[in-house]
Amino acid sequence: MSAPVGIAVIGLGVIGRRMLEQTALRQDLRVVSAWDLDAGARTRAQADFPGLTVAADAAAAIAAPGVDVVYIGTPPGVHRHYARMASARGLKVFCEKPLAVDVDEGRQMVGELAASGTPSAVNFVYASAPAARALQRAIDDGSIGMPRAIDVHLFFSRWPRDWQASAQWLRLRREGGFTREVLSHFVFLMMRLFGDCRPIGASVDWPDDEGLCERALIARLDCNGVPALVTARAGGAGPDEVRFTVRGDRGALRLENWYKLSRSDGSAWQPQPLETGGAHDVRTAAYQAQLDGLVAFVRGNPHGLPDAATALRVQATIEALLAPAA
Ligand SMILES: NC(=O)c1ccc[n+]([C@@H]2O[C@H](COP(=O)([O-])OP(=O)(O)OC[C@H]3O[C@@H](n4cnc5c(N)ncnc54)[C@H](O)[C@@H]3O)[C@@H](O)[C@H]2O)c1
Repeated sequence: MSAPVGIAVIGLGVIGRRMLEQTALRQDLRVVSAWDLDAGARTRAQADFPGLTVAADAAAAIAAPGVDVVYIGTPPGVHRHYARMASARGLKVFCEKPLAVDVDEGRQMVGELAASGTPSAVNFVYASAPAARALQRAIDDGSIGMPRAIDVHLFFSRWPRDWQASAQWLRLRREGGFTREVLSHFVFLMMRLFGDCRPIGASVDWPDDEGLCERALIARLDCNGVPALVTARAGGAGPDEVRFTVRGDRGALRLENWYKLSRSDGSAWQPQPLETGGAHDVRTAAYQAQLDGLVAFVRGNPHGLPDAATALRVQATIEALLAPAA
């Protein structure tokens, strides 16, 4: 059996810790080293993940013997910085989405990765969820007929959501907002399903405070001839809603919260059974499928993870929706 793939984890917040939890379930991945700018995050990670090697600084984490790939789980403003550090040591890059803090920086990052010959992959993990994969199969096998329309609907009673309360950068216009954080996953999914996803127009409700992120967004996109309508809002009473619906001429499919798939042939929505591939829940199944892709990516085998250039296309679409002239 080949040696486990060695990872350096940079960023030990919500998603970095999820990476630690999920890699611990596998034999073929090993977290060699980790680091976070925040001393409290380092201490918490060390306490919660016994055996974790927290390095003296990011450079030491990346330079640790046995690291094959650097996982960048920080806010987007420093993704490029760590990608450069990884490629300077000849390591592969597994980066969180959004790719970078803006399109210019994303472009530079893609250019630098290409120039240095650094293989990259970006963690649009929800597209690996069993519900998203089943939706893709159902569309591909023609069971809903010709796709005619896509509806994306997001509502968050509070932004950032309670489980992201420590990630206050998500409130800020510079790097945060639910359009970048959540809609980007759906833009990626639409590109994967339909081959393209081009902005047609958008209207954004911005708060008076120019430092803060959007409050609401209505947008139209064209996904290779299939029109998509996005309605999204943060703030207000009621449960959060995350819905993605593809309407064909013979049936419709709906993803809810990424982990539930329903189907309608004209009457009420019917929940669809999902394959979890041996994982005890659909969330773990999504992450483990993504990590199967990570192992294949690092070993140079075929995999389904998007690279930085694909993530840049997602980012360009998202930033166009948020741009004043959109
Ligand atoms: N793929 C997904 O499903 C998913 C889900 C949530 C978040 N994300 C993405 O993951 C990234 C991190 O999000 P999060 O929710 O974990 O945020 P977070 O704020 O919970 O964690 C980020 C961590 O990075 C650390 N950090 C900040 N600047 C740093 C620097 N210069 N060097 C090292 N560490 C630094 C912070 O101290 C913090 O611990 C973002 O890009 C976010 O969009 C992806």
